[in-house]
This record gives sequence, C-alpha cells and structure tokens, in this order.
Amino acid sequence: MIIKSIKLTNFRNHSNYSLVCDDNTSLILGENGSGKTSVLEAIYVSTRGKSFRATDSEIVKTGTSFYRIELEYENGEKIITFYDGKNKTFSILDKKTKRLPKNYKYPVVLFLPSDLNLISHSPGRRRDYFDRVFSEFEEKYSQDLLKYEKTLKQRNELLKDEHSLPETFFSWNLMLAKYGILICEKRKKFVQDINSFLTNTYHSIAENNDQVEIIYQTDTDNISESSYLKKLEDNFTRDKYLGHTSFGIHRDDYIFYFNHKPADGSASRGEVRSIILALKFIEANLIYQKQQKKPLVLLDDVFSELDPTRRHYLVKNFKDHQVIITSVEAIS
Ligand SMILES: Nc1ncnc2c1ncn2[C@@H]1O[C@H](COP(=O)(O)OP(=O)(O)O)[C@@H](O)[C@H]1O
Ligand SMILES: [Mg+2]
Repeated sequence: MIIKSIKLTNFRNHSNYSLVCDDNTSLILGENGSGKTSVLEAIYVSTRGKSFRATDSEIVKTGTSFYRIELEYENGEKIITFYDGKNKTFSILDKKTKRLPKNYKYPVVLFLPSDLNLISHSPGRRRDYFDRVFSEFEEKYSQDLLKYEKTLKQRNELLKDEHSLPETFFSWNLMLAKYGILICEKRKKFVQDINSFLTNTYHSIAENNDQVEIIYQTDTDNISESSYLKKLEDNFTRDKYLGHTSFGIHRDDYIFYFNHKPADGSASRGEVRSIILALKFIEANLIYQKQQKKPLVLLDDVFSELDPTRRHYLVKNFKDHQVIITSVEAIS
C-alpha cells in the first residue's frame, strides 16, 4: 500500500503540517529540531499503532490538549488518529477503535541513526529493537509479548508487596512460563531466519569473505513449561528479595558475531554499518516473505551517517519500496 498524504495537528512541534508523499521516494528536508523525525513518528503511529520513541502524552504539542494525525493511502482509505490527552482512538471509515485494527497495520522498516549503534547498545535496547522487528514479522508475536509484559509487571508489583504469599504467584508464574516459551521459540526461529541471509547480504554490501551471525542468548532455550515454572518457583525467595523477576525471556540478548568473534570490539565502524544495513535489507525481505506486503521504509537522518557506497546500496535495495527520508542537507 502506498501512502498518499499525512496531516498533523499539534503533533510535537507541528501545529499544522501536511506532506504529500511520492509513490517512490519522499524527502523531508529541515534543520535539526525542525520536526523531521516527528513526521516519521506520526506515520509510524498511523501504520503501527504506537510511537517508536514516546508515549502519547509526550507527543501532544506543549500547551495544547490533543493531537490528530490524518493519513491517507493511495486507494483513498483514511486513518485518523486522535489523542485527547487521555485516550487514543483510530477512526477508519465510520468505525472508531482504541487499537489500530490488525488489517490496518502496515509493515514498516524503520532506520534510525541510533540503530547504527545497535551492536554496542545495552541488552535492553537490543531486545526492544528485535521485539519491534519481530512484531512486524508476525502480529501474534506482539500480542504474546504484550501478555508476557503485563504479567511480568503484575508479578513484579506483587513481589514488592511485603504481604504477598508464595501461593498467590502461581497463576502469574503459569502465564509467564506459557508466554515465555512461545516468545523464546519465536525469537529463536526469527534469528535463524535472519542468519540464513546475513552473511550473503553482508557480502552484497562489503565484497569480502567475512562471516556474520547473530547469536540469540537466553536462559530458557529448550526448556519445558514445567521446568520454566519450577525455575520461577525456585527463585521465589531471591526474587522477593530483589523485588523483581530474575528468570525469563525479559533477560534475553542478541549478540552479533563477526568472523566468529563478538562484533562489538572486533568489527570496525564501517563493518558495523554494513552489518546494520544488511540487517535492514533482510528485515524488509522477511516482512515481504511472511506477509506478502512490501514494507514502507522510513530512513531518519541516516544518509549523513553513511558514505557514498553504503548510500548507494541503501537506495538500490529499497528502490521497489515507498521510502520516506529525512535529512538536514540535500541528498545527491
Ligand atoms: N510535545 C512537544 N511539544 C512541542 N515541541 C516538542 C514536543 N516534543 C518535542 N518537541 C520539539 O520538537 C522539535 C522537533 O523534534 P524532532 O522531530 O526530533 O526534530 P528533527 O528530527 O527535525 O531534528 C524539537 O525541537 C523538540 O524539542
Ligand atoms: Mg531527527
């Protein structure tokens, strides 16, 4: 699907803003702080249902009480997102919903400058990154993850309650084990999917013999629901003392390997950039493979971070997609 236009009201620094998009490549030019990333953010909210960087209350223009986004696709379909300071609704035709309906979610490959540091980021940021990507691969992944996260939050609150008894944890433990295993299996599978293309795609950017791989690190690999459950129960005293849940998929990590060594510390800056580029190309291909939809590509200020060769590959690889680019300077 192709986005035709987007209109913003009270969205971050924009009181009123509109952009008519090109079928192929649109360029949003502007100084730092002019609100370029915010436009991509609004597109992301309209296509994925929520921001990649903030909560709705942070997005509302300071001094105003609501924000509104109107996104129109080329076929005339319109998605109006309205946040009144408390609740967000999506209006499509004459229907209003609290969540963006599944069949109106559109896959997006988002490329932020900070993604170039993915390999050296904290495990938490890497988890968030891959959670976002895997949610693009499969809607159920994000649903299961949401259930896991809600349960984890409730269990952690209960742990902090000094009067809570071990037996009250049983139902939360059961949920964590159930969804934890589902998520672990999916993460394992999706990392395998990425790995099956990673080295070859990397070679298409950097012509050499280097080998690239992502290792999914988890304590929950190949364990049954009952051993997952037992682990949670065994850790109870410790968790109670810590005030949080110490075992589970919320502690997973993804380690990038470059020629069989951790890339963080061994791959050069340029090599890391090519690895991330390769990852983005694979994301787009896997989304297409899994959903039969060509993802929208949002490139936020990444051109200035890349040398001409890598820019060339970026443009070449996404030439069959709708691409929206932000930049401080004109792009040749
Ligand atoms: N809720 C808000 N209300 C008003 N201004 C905001 C809000 N949130 C962020 N801003 C400001 O909006 C500007 C645009 O941010 P951003 O889209 O990140 O700019 P760019 O990507 O062009 O550098 C920044 O100066 C930021 O301080
Ligand atoms: Mg920006």
